[in-house]
Amino acid sequence: MSEILLDVQHLTHVFRLDKHAVIKAVDDVSFQMKKGEILGLVGESGSGKSTVARCIMNVYKPTGGKILYRDIDIGDKAQLRKHRKMLESLRQIIFQDSTSSLNQRMTVADIIAEPMSIHRMRPARGSLRAEAEFQLSYVGMDASYLDKYPTELSGGQRQRVAIARALSMEPELLVADEPIASLDVSIQAQIINLLRHCNREHGCSILFIAHDLSMVEYLCDRVGVMYRGRLVEIAPTAELYANPRHPYTKALLSAIPIPDPIAERSRKRIDFDEVSFDRDGVLTRIAADHFVLMQEEV
Ligand SMILES: Nc1ncnc2c1ncn2[C@@H]1O[C@H](COP(=O)(O)OP(=O)(O)OP(=O)(O)O)[C@@H](O)[C@H]1O
Ligand SMILES: [Mg+2]
Repeated sequence: MSEILLDVQHLTHVFRLDKHAVIKAVDDVSFQMKKGEILGLVGESGSGKSTVARCIMNVYKPTGGKILYRDIDIGDKAQLRKHRKMLESLRQIIFQDSTSSLNQRMTVADIIAEPMSIHRMRPARGSLRAEAEFQLSYVGMDASYLDKYPTELSGGQRQRVAIARALSMEPELLVADEPIASLDVSIQAQIINLLRHCNREHGCSILFIAHDLSMVEYLCDRVGVMYRGRLVEIAPTAELYANPRHPYTKALLSAIPIPDPIAERSRKRIDFDEVSFDRDGVLTRIAADHFVLMQEEV
C-alpha cells in the first residue's frame, strides 16, 4: 500500500455572496493522494477546481468536511498552529493567476529566494541569489531577469517566476492550478517536463489542475473530473480515458481533438444533458480504483 499524503473527506465550500445568495462551489468532494502521485483535476470553468486547491492550501477555510495532510487535520486550529511552518514549507501552490500572488515591490531574485530565506534553507549553490538564478534557468529565464520587478515582465514570465519560487522549496506537495495556461506553447512543454522531473527526481506529489486534457493524459497518474462542485468520476488516467463512465466525463473526453485527420473526421462528440445531472449521487467503486458518482442502489 502506498502512503496517503493527502486525504480530502467530504469537502464542501460555500461562498456567501450577500444576505440571500450563496454559491456551493464545492459539494461533498472526497479523494486521496498518494505520496509521489500526480493527480489531475479537470472540469468546466466554475466547477470548483480552484476552490478545492485553495482549501487544501489553507487559503479558504472549508465550510464542511475535513482535509488531512500527513494525518494532520489542517482545518483544526491547534494542529494547524503546531505544524504551520512545516506545512508551509512542504506544500506549495502555483496560482492560476500569478500576477496577484507576486509581491510587486520585490525583485525576481528576492521573490524566488523568499521562501528559502523564511524557512532558513541553506542554499545548495552558495547564496540565495545563485539559488534563484538556478531556479530561474529551470523555467527558461536567464540571470538578466533577477533584478527586474514583476511589472517589467510579461504575464508568461511572471507565471514562470511563480513556478520557480514554488519549486525552489522542493515541495512534497505541489498544487498547480492551471500553471501553463498563460504560457506560450513552446514553453508549456518545457514546464510540463519540469514538473515531471520534480516528480520523478524529488518524489514531489502534484495536484495538477488543467483544461488541456491531452496534457493531463500525458502527465497524470490519475484524474478526477469535477462538475458543478461535485467530483463525478476519478480513476487511473488510462482507465478513465479508455473507459469513461459518467455522462459528463464522456462528453468532456469526446471533445478532445484526435491528431490523426482521418480519425478526427469521424470523431463523434457526445453532448451532456445538464438537466439530467443528478448531484445527489454517491461516489461508487465500479472497478479497481475507478469511482463514479451515481445513485445508491436501494
Ligand atoms: N471568491 C469568490 N467569491 C464568490 N464566489 C466565488 C469565489 N471564487 C469562486 N467562486 C465561485 O465558485 C464557483 C467555483 O469557482 P472555482 O474558481 O473554484 O472554479 P474553477 O473550476 O477553478 O473554474 P476555472 O476553470 O474557471 O478556473 C464558481 O461558481 C465561482 O463563480
Ligand atoms: Mg480555477
